[in-house]
Amino acid sequence: MSASPIAVVTGGAGFIGSHTVDKLIELGHRVVVLDNFSTGKRANLARWLDARHRFDGEQPALEIVTCDVAHGIFAALAAITTKYGPVERIVHLAAQVSVVASVANPLVDMQVNYGGTLHVLEYARAMGVKKVAFASSAAVYGEVSQMPVGEDTPTKPMSPYGIDKLASEFALDYYAAVHGVATTALRFFNVYGPRQDPTSPYSGVISIFADRAKAGQQLVIFGDGQQTRDFVYVGDVVRAIVAAVGDGNSRAVANVGTGGEITVVELARTLVDLCTGAAAPRAERSGIVHAPARAGEILKSRARVDVLRDRFGVVAETKLVDGLRATLADH
Ligand SMILES: NC(=O)c1ccc[n+]([C@@H]2O[C@H](COP(=O)([O-])OP(=O)(O)OC[C@H]3O[C@@H](n4cnc5c(N)ncnc54)[C@H](O)[C@@H]3O)[C@@H](O)[C@H]2O)c1
Repeated sequence: MSASPIAVVTGGAGFIGSHTVDKLIELGHRVVVLDNFSTGKRANLARWLDARHRFDGEQPALEIVTCDVAHGIFAALAAITTKYGPVERIVHLAAQVSVVASVANPLVDMQVNYGGTLHVLEYARAMGVKKVAFASSAAVYGEVSQMPVGEDTPTKPMSPYGIDKLASEFALDYYAAVHGVATTALRFFNVYGPRQDPTSPYSGVISIFADRAKAGQQLVIFGDGQQTRDFVYVGDVVRAIVAAVGDGNSRAVANVGTGGEITVVELARTLVDLCTGAAAPRAERSGIVHAPARAGEILKSRARVDVLRDRFGVVAETKLVDGLRATLADH
């Protein structure tokens, strides 16, 4: 049996998680996915599902365990670690991902998004896991007037989702300082790419726009479309995750973005152009329409990314147009 290290990816059947699993397996890890399939799909892991990729088959290998992180991960991992050895690293991505749902049901958000992190950290402490990398979010900042947003910007989350991500960051820091668990929190900005689910109303704007632009349907922009976002391609996010989880750097917090920003209206126009060709007659192109602005929506967002570059050696390099092409190819 190969002694390649075991990495756990919670939420590994989801959008970012499944790309992370692909990369870790390609790098030679044996990967265990813990997921409750609330938004994740087995199909996202399709390329690893045949018998050759089981732990007792050939390398590389994946095992999937259905597990709710809000209820702990010891039992879910026991059989695998007894047979195949200890978990070396954990990428903790499993979360209730909707800000709107967190407002409607803050207790569930707390149980999954904060409680789940505590369960992961308790496991890491008890089992001597070498590194935990955690998916935090730009939501920890709330509304910020000064751009770009550095990690030293005061945090002021405006939703239970943002509060639970920030509480998780504090827990990571506590476990690192007091229990010696090496941890990194990555504050993702707006991640996009293939496998992002366009059917959820809370999904990233790019997956929703891509779906509609491809179908020749109207793109609905809330407000004037001058709100900006730092859209970062999932392949670049995965490079950040892999660097963070493979690294000894502890107590680090790093933004994951491009350092740039574009307006939502520019994004919509670019997608329409990519779908129809800029020269296509207007009638063949999806229309862009405006709906009333959404209350509480953040107007500007752009990450400062020097910590990611200097501590983890990662710079997001996928051009928006290339990332959008890859996203459209998936729709
Ligand atoms: N996509 C973004 O732009 C973005 C931005 C900031 C932060 N994040 C964070 O990145 C992580 C991954 O998000 P994503 O965009 O891939 O979303 P996703 O919904 O595709 O992935 C989340 C995964 O977690 C699983 N999950 C949910 N609750 C669970 C539970 N209780 N137990 C076990 N598994 C559970 C889901 O089934 C899914 O596979 C999340 O922590 C999210 O908060 C994402």
